[in-house]
Amino acid sequence: MAEPHRLELRDVRAAERRVRERLHRTPLLTCTALDRLAGRRLLFKCELFQKTGSFKIRGALNAVRSLVEGSGRAGGELPRAVVTHSSGNHGQALACAAQAEGIPAYIVVPHTAPHCKQAAIRAYGATLVLCEPSDESRAETAARVVRETGGVMVHPNQEPAVIAGQGTIALEVLEQAPEVNAVVVPVGGGGMVAGIAVAIKGTGTELQPRGSSCSPQALRPDVKVFAAEPCNADDCYQSKLRGELTPSLDPRETIADAVRTNIGPNTWPIIRDLVDDVLTVSEEEIKVKAPSSLLPAASIPSFSSHSSSSVPWISSQGSTTLTPPRMSNTHISSWEGLAEALLSQCPFRSPSLQLE
Ligand SMILES: Cc1ncc(COP(=O)(O)O)c(C=O)c1O
Repeated sequence: MAEPHRLELRDVRAAERRVRERLHRTPLLTCTALDRLAGRRLLFKCELFQKTGSFKIRGALNAVRSLVEGSGRAGGELPRAVVTHSSGNHGQALACAAQAEGIPAYIVVPHTAPHCKQAAIRAYGATLVLCEPSDESRAETAARVVRETGGVMVHPNQEPAVIAGQGTIALEVLEQAPEVNAVVVPVGGGGMVAGIAVAIKGTGTELQPRGSSCSPQALRPDVKVFAAEPCNADDCYQSKLRGELTPSLDPRETIADAVRTNIGPNTWPIIRDLVDDVLTVSEEEIKVKAPSSLLPAASIPSFSSHSSSSVPWISSQGSTTLTPPRMSNTHISSWEGLAEALLSQCPFRSPSLQLE
């Protein structure tokens, strides 16, 4: 294994160059009613409008294109295949990225994953490999597929190229709204919050390698970076509290199922060094229909003790359940009401879109 590598802003900028032609620049939306409630300006980075329906395509595309560039530089052949395990969003994203580069993709998916997600992965031409819904089964099955296919494993959240790709969200946000002074990001394995933290705050973290190391530089070290996670899967919070990686061996069920994952050995040091705080959200507070992607919105109560005044919340995926559930009876006096309003009733505006 090569020398440990520091992931830096330069890696995120390189990722942006690799992916920007292929991806959407998602809008930042605002909502006056929510601003009033929160007592600060809130901006929502709507990654639900991203290709494949979530931010995951950023990291997956950066990883696949980095592999292709690497094989070109070495005068070698394209990778035989890419392999990953994912309950949905990263699987779709890797399948899409691999298809774009003409590389076979094998996606290990728990058999309990929603059929629409399995169908979407197949629709991108990937081979689906079903496993049991446990971390061990996913990891073992993916390792077997790597052995059998000679493919390259692209981990959903610990792969440095994936982390750097997710960091491109921050570059866009800071261009679209340079006035922001804090970001709130849902955390599962930590790839998104780590990439964003690296882009905004700079460096200081040793990672397992795939790529070159570069000199430290911070884009906006003054901007606070917060992670948001369910109380029922609060390994990131516990890790920050104890100062050491503290995975939940048996996380409880949460409506925000996409972020039930534990942070890992590559994202933990970044989170430890660069993430300012972790906001935890109870199941009651998360009561929305698209829970993982709107976790930051549900964390508004815990966030209100912080003093920042202009905050983008990363809405990390789209969902078929986004259709407004109860349009007629939303009172914005509870957090549930707030979330419903967010989904259905508030007049969103986009500072990043020029609307006639
Ligand atoms: C919709 C959604 N939001 C947030 C996350 C968390 O991302 P990460 O695992 O990089 O922390 C995921 C991860 O799967 C996700 O699918």
